[in-house]
Amino acid sequence: MKKALKIIAVAIGAVALLIAAAAFYFNIKGIPNYEVNAPDITVDATPERVARGEYLVNQTCVICHMGKDGKLSGTLMEDDPGFGTWYAANITQHPEAGIGKYTDGELMYLLRTGIKRDGQFAPSFMPRLNLISDEDLKSIIAYLRSDAPRVQPSEIKQPPHEPTLLAKVVCNLAMKPLPYPEAEITAPSKSDEVAYGKYLADGTMMCYMCHSASFETVDEVVPENSQGYFGGGNMVSNPQNRADGAPSANLTMHREHGLGNWTEEQFANAVRFGQGADGQGLSTAMPKFTLMTDEDISAIWAYLQTVPVIENKVVAEASGQ
Ligand code: HEC
Ligand code: HEC
Repeated sequence: MKKALKIIAVAIGAVALLIAAAAFYFNIKGIPNYEVNAPDITVDATPERVARGEYLVNQTCVICHMGKDGKLSGTLMEDDPGFGTWYAANITQHPEAGIGKYTDGELMYLLRTGIKRDGQFAPSFMPRLNLISDEDLKSIIAYLRSDAPRVQPSEIKQPPHEPTLLAKVVCNLAMKPLPYPEAEITAPSKSDEVAYGKYLADGTMMCYMCHSASFETVDEVVPENSQGYFGGGNMVSNPQNRADGAPSANLTMHREHGLGNWTEEQFANAVRFGQGADGQGLSTAMPKFTLMTDEDISAIWAYLQTVPVIENKVVAEASGQ
């Protein structure tokens, strides 16, 4: 009996030691680094590309990267005991504070895989644009290089991230960079409204990330496999006003809990102006896609009609994280 107790005590001691050693290891190792195999590409910044890039960047990237000086100089992104303190980067053309030193290929590589110019892994607060077409990605880069006021050099330097041990462990073991695509990615034709709507909702505007069950169970490679795809309930806060949080809405066509009784016009007003069905303002956790064209609104609306209906009643009282 005594011997058995002793063995158990030794075993517990060994496990505790192993955990301490692992914690020490990940604490020292920090956020992992990977090899950067950036393609050798120079993006031809045609006026068409800059205009297209302006449309995309000013609806998606601004959500996190908009800074206090009206440029894309970044902001505090996450500050919680679980994952630590993280900042959305300054992505203006400033060579030190911003992304002035990135080559076009390095930008393509980061935006597809999540590996930064210096090799450090960017966890999924920074969404990977793994489904966007090569042409749209090049347009984003063309805009970031353009003479648009929002991307001119800003000296605002974001502080270094302060990841917790948990964040370091998760970034080493659970989150991985995505592979750089081997073949060119093209967008579906606009004449196929449903396919084009899916491309917008999943690939460029990334509506599904906020509108599924949780950021933790989002499937970036096959978005439809995300838990509760478009069923809502994910707790979202607005990086520009972090006190304002709300669970995302159910965008499937459920007649009671989703958009089953909405008109396309109501949908357009929610997406563009943050107006709820009852005319009340939505939480600013729902970005305003003010620039969205009628054509793109209709395509997303057409696609949402085909998404499997989920009976998830999103309870707004759960807000205010
Ligand atoms: C949901 C918030 C969010 C959105 C949306 C977002 N980003 Fe980011 N981005 C981040 C965060 C956070 C980081 C910092 C990542 C890190 O350092 O690990 C980052 C980092 C970057 C970097 C790397 C900067 C550096 O210093 O190495 C670039 C470039 C970038 N983002 C571009 C974009 C572009 C272009 C878009 C739009 C297509 C975009 N981001 C959309 C949050 C976001
Ligand atoms: C950054 C996260 C985020 C993104 C990205 C996002 N949404 Fe939302 N959305 C929300 C949140 C949170 C709410 C709930 C707001 C509230 O209840 O006040 C919401 C609400 C809505 C509503 C109102 C539904 C209702 O029942 O009141 C619609 C419609 C909507 N979003 C459509 C979209 C579309 C289309 C896209 C992509 C173009 C999108 N959203 C992208 C977070 C997001």
